[in-house]
Amino acid sequence: MAPEGYLDRPGAATGSGTLWAARLAASPAEELMAFTASLAYDRVLAADDIAASQAHVRGLVRAGLLSEADGAALATALEAAASELASSEFAFAAADEDIHTAVERRVTELAGEAGARLHTARSRNDQVACDLRLFVKRELAAAAGGVLALQKVLAARATEVGEARLPAYTHLQRAQPVLLAHHLLAHGWALARDFDRLLDARRRADVSPLGAGASAGTSLPIDPDATAADLGFAARFENSLDAVSDRDFVAESLFALALLGVHLSRLGEEIVWWTSEEVGFLHLDDAWATGSSMMPQKKNPDVAELARARAGRLIGNLTGLLATLKGLPLAYNRDLQEDKEPLFDSLAQVRGALAALAGLLNTAAFDEARMAAAADDPLLAATDLAEMLVGRGVPFRVAHERIARVVRGALAGEGDFADLAAAEVGPEASEILRPGRTLARRTSPGGGGAAAVAVQRQRFAARLAADAARLAAAEVPSV
Ligand code: ARG
Repeated sequence: MAPEGYLDRPGAATGSGTLWAARLAASPAEELMAFTASLAYDRVLAADDIAASQAHVRGLVRAGLLSEADGAALATALEAAASELASSEFAFAAADEDIHTAVERRVTELAGEAGARLHTARSRNDQVACDLRLFVKRELAAAAGGVLALQKVLAARATEVGEARLPAYTHLQRAQPVLLAHHLLAHGWALARDFDRLLDARRRADVSPLGAGASAGTSLPIDPDATAADLGFAARFENSLDAVSDRDFVAESLFALALLGVHLSRLGEEIVWWTSEEVGFLHLDDAWATGSSMMPQKKNPDVAELARARAGRLIGNLTGLLATLKGLPLAYNRDLQEDKEPLFDSLAQVRGALAALAGLLNTAAFDEARMAAAADDPLLAATDLAEMLVGRGVPFRVAHERIARVVRGALAGEGDFADLAAAEVGPEASEILRPGRTLARRTSPGGGGAAAVAVQRQRFAARLAADAARLAAAEVPSV
């Protein structure tokens, strides 16, 4: 398993090349390395690992634990390692069990003597937590940006469709007509809560664990407040045991992403349903649809189906991590390494789904005539007819019963609903049953009527602008 020449490389602590080699008499078994190594996935933390090490080196120099010359040598070596990693020229070695080992090994090769001082007053336990928090801060902001982009598409379409109407459904049965904009913005508001949750999770991730050491701090005179500030964290840890064992910020991120995924899943389901021939409310652009390998006529909504399905993975990633964390004693345990794959996966899945759904919705065509035909089913005005009676002083329970009898009569073939309704409540019924009329009457704030939706559009636009400003203000460290 060890690559040619690695074992003889200057700077390797002992024959095995691991960071703990002096303690153990034997080199690690190949299967041990294969089972325990995390390099295959934690290399995405490379830039954050370098940034954290750069700050750590500056801290060691300030503390007088590192000479200016050694500090400069380490800074240069870290920079070189960073550019090798960025350009994929970085040669990983078999004993690089994780990205932290790999970077320290390379820095030691490049900086010589000074390399052996890099890990002063630091453990991989505070290092990995620090890297991951830097990563999470950036990635949650990026996910929030993806949410905003999808919300903007929903807002634009909600403006463009004007007063187009469709039925609201309860129990998947036609309920009352609403503006299509109202339906689109319903998804937009759910996403607004997701945006909020992502930034909220990010805020709690914004605490530096650097300086906690392996678990108990250090006897060396470091200043964790200063390294926290240097790395752009809002605060430093309060308790070293908590700092190295806390993965709440990963669990919270996974929850925020899972619930966002659930919202995307529900949106996906509606797209699947709306594009069915039975419903026919939505037609996908050909670039955002798929075909069948066997049935020449097919046009399928695979993007929406996969958005619907990915929520399963996101929920699995959350519950998997919670199960890993449950029952762990303080402080660091290797179990915590299992935090990364679910986190990386959930972030990637959510960002992919957000981008795909934004593209699909931006290009899809609404069949407004078909929606209106469904919305104009006179039975959908039954509630408004009952409310009209309420306006005349009839108790709602009585009004409901009177209109329900009209509905039953119409469905039993006793006559046309409009005629029966006019006979029951008077000629005003036909005014209410005119297409779109119920939407003009439905004025309650936050409701699906035209006037309320006009207000809602403005409030949603204001919310998007405020959220965009919040995102811009959230410092996104560039690495
Ligand atoms: N790869 C490890 C992780 O992700 C880094 C910390 C290892 N620390 C240790 N004491 N073995 O958690």
